[in-house]
Amino acid sequence: MDKSFWDSRYAEDGFAYGIAVNEFLSSFEGAFKAGQKVLVIGDGEGRNGVWLAEQGCHVVSVDSSNVGVKKAQELASEKGVEIEAICADLNDWTWPESEFDFVVIIYVHFPPEVRAFLHQKVISALKPGGQLIMESFSPAQLHYSSGGPPVLEMLYTADMMQDDFKLLEIQQLEECVIELNEGKYHCGEGAVVRLVAKKS
Ligand SMILES: C[S@@+](CC[C@H](N)C(=O)[O-])C[C@H]1O[C@@H](n2cnc3c(N)ncnc32)[C@H](O)[C@@H]1O
Repeated sequence: MDKSFWDSRYAEDGFAYGIAVNEFLSSFEGAFKAGQKVLVIGDGEGRNGVWLAEQGCHVVSVDSSNVGVKKAQELASEKGVEIEAICADLNDWTWPESEFDFVVIIYVHFPPEVRAFLHQKVISALKPGGQLIMESFSPAQLHYSSGGPPVLEMLYTADMMQDDFKLLEIQQLEECVIELNEGKYHCGEGAVVRLVAKKS
């Protein structure tokens, strides 16, 4: 799933994953305070970044698809909020350090050879006291047809996340089956791993 895959998906009519915020992220609504800095990596067409901006946060939204980034900017304008939308490959991006109150990762699956390295960048980007909120597909997703990468090596287990984020205080980590209702590409029962973790 390279940049051209995402560009062509986002060139389709409508929004691939809808315009509503991801349900797991929205369950933390009360946690976000106006003015807090939030980094949303792999923000796609911007549904999550825009919702966070609506909570009053300063949002840095990064994605390598220029088609997605443009739609994210348009969605923000339609909703009357601003996001700092950056088109960059996270492998090449100069990651800020100790800057964010939250990092949000919703269904962003990195290949095994860069996953742990990029997750270390996530840890560095958090301020002390900052929190990571992540939802990704787990290997059990191969039994479902509700979206996600169709290959085992791109899917994440709770054990992998425990290891990648061992420098953080893990507050929630679970693999579970949920009902997805996120646009036409995330629809039906799905197997996910959910993580909330805090930098001390
Ligand atoms: C399944 S989509 C999820 C989009 C969004 N988080 C959402 O939930 O609506 C995965 C996104 O990750 C982005 N992505 C994957 N690898 C990336 C990388 N190395 N750098 C930047 N973006 C990346 C893709 O462009 C795509 O928009």
